[in-house]
Amino acid sequence: MTLPNDNMTREMLAAQAHIHSNGRAMILSDWVNALPINNNAKTLNYIFRLMCILTHGRFFNQTKLKEEEGYLLTPASRLLLKDEPLSQVSFVQMELDPNVMDPSHLLSKWIKNSADPSTPFSIAHGKAIFECDEKDPKLNLQFNEAMASDSRLVISVVIENCKGVFEGLKSLVDVGGGIGIVAKVIADTFLQMNCIVFDLPHVIEGCEGSKILSYVRGNMLKFIPSADAILLKERNQQDWAKLFSSAGFSDYSIIPMLGLRSIIEVFP
Ligand SMILES: C[S@@+](CC[C@H](N)C(=O)[O-])C[C@H]1O[C@@H](n2cnc3c(N)ncnc32)[C@H](O)[C@@H]1O
Repeated sequence: MTLPNDNMTREMLAAQAHIHSNGRAMILSDWVNALPINNNAKTLNYIFRLMCILTHGRFFNQTKLKEEEGYLLTPASRLLLKDEPLSQVSFVQMELDPNVMDPSHLLSKWIKNSADPSTPFSIAHGKAIFECDEKDPKLNLQFNEAMASDSRLVISVVIENCKGVFEGLKSLVDVGGGIGIVAKVIADTFLQMNCIVFDLPHVIEGCEGSKILSYVRGNMLKFIPSADAILLKERNQQDWAKLFSSAGFSDYSIIPMLGLRSIIEVFP
């Protein structure tokens, strides 16, 4: 098994971008012509300034095109195209939604009130994000789609670099598995494995299983379906270490994967 690292991930994304890009750069006036905005000197100047910021942020690369500056997409901006297989548009749209942005203005209030165990989101909206999603189908759809786009990217890197972790398993449960993107990719890759997606009822409502993939609704704080492997998320290293030792495991190993994400193996 090859151990993944950030370089590998970057190379994978860069290669993907290269395959899709055709290598065609565009000059600024062509960009502006292609947009539903007025093509005049003022607009061109505004767009030029915006492109400077976006180029500095590595969302575009610059190249000389017949004495003019041409702009090319970068791997990062390719992830923001809606038709890309690993598109992150849904995720970014959710992050920029006022419902999700508003809580970031409450970080100070949240941190200062250390006795309050709630999150900035529940301070802003009076309840946790999953409770809001349960009551609001539009929000629920937006959140589930955002999680799914993120999961598509993460699981593609995991399968590319860490396939060995799953080999030999007969069953797996993805706890908090959303609409089942991760479990579907695993089930399609390891045909002998039975995969269960476990999530709250409103999240998996309407999701259809198959012979090797089933959806189980429930609350992970009350029970978790049993399986050879359990996918869990969102803890820091100390939390995981404590959990594994209390559960009687002898050791664990952490394989850094993509950004904040890692694969953790635990041993009996
Ligand atoms: C960060 S998202 C992960 C989404 C998932 N990885 C995907 O591919 O879409 C966390 C998930 O945990 C689920 N969740 C939150 N609290 C839960 C609970 N008490 N029991 C079961 N699932 C829960 C949420 O509904 C959400 O789908």
